[in-house]
Amino acid sequence: MKELPEDDPRSFMQQAYIHCAYCNGAYNQPGQGDLDIQVHNSWLFFPFHRWYLYFYERILGKLIDDPTFALPFWNWVNPKGMTIPPIFLDPNAAIYDAKRNPANLKAVVDLGRTGNEDPMQLVTNNLTVMYTEMVRGNADVYDFMGQPYREGTPVSPGPGSSERGSHTALHIFVGDPREPSGEDMGNFYSAGWDPLFYCHHANVDRMWLLWKDVLPKDKVPTKDITDPDYLNASFLFYDENAQLVRVYVKDSLDTRKMGYDLQRIDLPWLDYRPPIQMALARIKRTSSFFPKAASLFPLNLTKVVRFEVQKTKKGKADELLVLENITVDTTKFLKFDVFVNDEDDNPLELDKAAYAGTYAQVPHKSPKKLSTTSIRLKLTDLYEDMDIGDDDSIVVTIVPRHSGPGVTIGGIKIIENPPKA
Ligand code: C2O
Repeated sequence: MKELPEDDPRSFMQQAYIHCAYCNGAYNQPGQGDLDIQVHNSWLFFPFHRWYLYFYERILGKLIDDPTFALPFWNWVNPKGMTIPPIFLDPNAAIYDAKRNPANLKAVVDLGRTGNEDPMQLVTNNLTVMYTEMVRGNADVYDFMGQPYREGTPVSPGPGSSERGSHTALHIFVGDPREPSGEDMGNFYSAGWDPLFYCHHANVDRMWLLWKDVLPKDKVPTKDITDPDYLNASFLFYDENAQLVRVYVKDSLDTRKMGYDLQRIDLPWLDYRPPIQMALARIKRTSSFFPKAASLFPLNLTKVVRFEVQKTKKGKADELLVLENITVDTTKFLKFDVFVNDEDDNPLELDKAAYAGTYAQVPHKSPKKLSTTSIRLKLTDLYEDMDIGDDDSIVVTIVPRHSGPGVTIGGIKIIENPPKA
């Protein structure tokens, strides 16, 4: 692939440009003023990348004349896979890339971006991140897949839990901080120039497959999106014969129909519900010296903040914490974590019931520097684990994991999980 002439659409150069074009505002929405097209931070995230890898894999298979060739996944959700696979580190290999963070070449991945340096704690943090983004933190299909994004609407309506969580963390973990924009993996425009990107995304793709197949049915009411604007969305790619083809989201929903499946192996994160945390949560509940949320928002997030949020309803309603009008500088890596009634205030540890979820983004270039998005975090299991379902309010802590400005959160509220249409 690397040896093909640069203008061959199957060349490594051109393959990487495809990703760049679909995420840096290269395409406009026809007839929609200055609205551009973005395949991240919405429900297009999983289907676009699945099709992208599909053709990448077929091109490689054709070039080595092996139609059974399959792209391996980097299994960073299992403790045994939580470092960069060593075959990517050989400087003489075609899959080597010099633009990677030298400090992380052999380090345990940090899916929570807490900066914790204890490898054992990193592993438990990672498993907790996975359990939270795959199981505990989502109330509906959009919370996992990403929010609806249609013709005529602005980019980045809201990334799903997996995209903003482990997916983003790995991009930043691998990207080289010595480069001006975290190249290669640390910025969308350049990510495709690191061959590791494709094996990272093969695992991201696997998370979608597993979410549909193994997540207990009682966790989300439905795992399918039936909206025609989703199903009929399409992308253009070059196939293994260098022919331009149009493919549809609706044809990406079943990998078996696309001709591939993924090896079924251990999923240690699947049972990784954090330990219950009741006693101290009760102590927290009696303390009332935290400011009310209303007095702090809109919040320009530059340091750890803690405040009280009123609940809509007592009892065990399926409640959601909504962070709305999150305005982000798209050119920066940004991340914050949300904790509820956190008792020990050790932000380096995530394996506790108080951890509710995460917002994060991979930096990218876009016609507009600012973009506005929102996230929802399901609290039902957290209430249960902390026995705080009957309280009138909760204490929320927001911990930024990036430095400097870049995020403003418009508002925060608790809502009941609305009935599904
Ligand atoms: Cu299109 Cu992980 O990025």
